[in-house]
Amino acid sequence: MSARPYVIDEMISAKAIAARIEALAREITEAFGDTDKLVVVGLLRGSFVFIADLVRELDLPVEVDFIEVSSYGDATESSREVRILKDLRGEIAGRDVLVVEDIVDTGHTLKHVVGYLGAKGPKRLRTIALLDKPTRREVDVKADWTGFEIPDRFVVGYGIDYAQRNRNLPHIGAVRFTG
Ligand code: IMP
Repeated sequence: MSARPYVIDEMISAKAIAARIEALAREITEAFGDTDKLVVVGLLRGSFVFIADLVRELDLPVEVDFIEVSSYGDATESSREVRILKDLRGEIAGRDVLVVEDIVDTGHTLKHVVGYLGAKGPKRLRTIALLDKPTRREVDVKADWTGFEIPDRFVVGYGIDYAQRNRNLPHIGAVRFTG
C-alpha cells in the first residue's frame, strides 16, 4: 500500500490496446508461421493480462509457460539486480520461444532474461513488450515487438501494478501523486 495519495490519468484505452495486440499477433503469426509449436513465456506478474490477450490472437500452436524475476518491490525505482524467482516448467532447448514482458524500462530485466533463456539453447528466441520507455534505458536492449512507446511516467493497469494495486484496470494509466 502506498502512503502517498495519487490519481490515475488514462494513457492508453482498452480499445487501443486490443487493436494493437491484434496487429502484433498478425506479425508474430507470420514470423513463426513455420513453427511446430511456439513456447510463449510470460514474465510474472505484470504480463499476465497481456499474455492472455496475445495468445488468443495468435494463429499458431502455442504452449504457455511463466518465469518470475525479482522486480521493483513496492517502490517506483528499479533495483538493478535481477534474480530468477521462479523458473520455467518446460524445456525450451531446440524450441521456438517468445518472451512476453509488460514494460521495458531500464532494460535490465529483459536483458537478463534473454541471456538466461538463451543459455538454455532455444531454436529461436524473440521478445515482445507491451510498453517501452526508451528514455529510461540503461542497457542496450530492445524487444523485437513493442506495443507502445511511452514517456517516462509510472504506469499501472492491464496487469501492471503500483504496490500490487491497479492490476485490474482495463486500460493503461499514469500515476500522478496529489500529496
Ligand atoms: P527494467 O528492468 O527497468 O526494464 O524494468 C522492468 C520491470 O519494471 C517491468 O517488467 C515492470 O515490472 C517494472 N516497471 C517498470 N516501469 C514500470 C511502471 O511504470 N509501472 C509499473 N512497473 C514498472
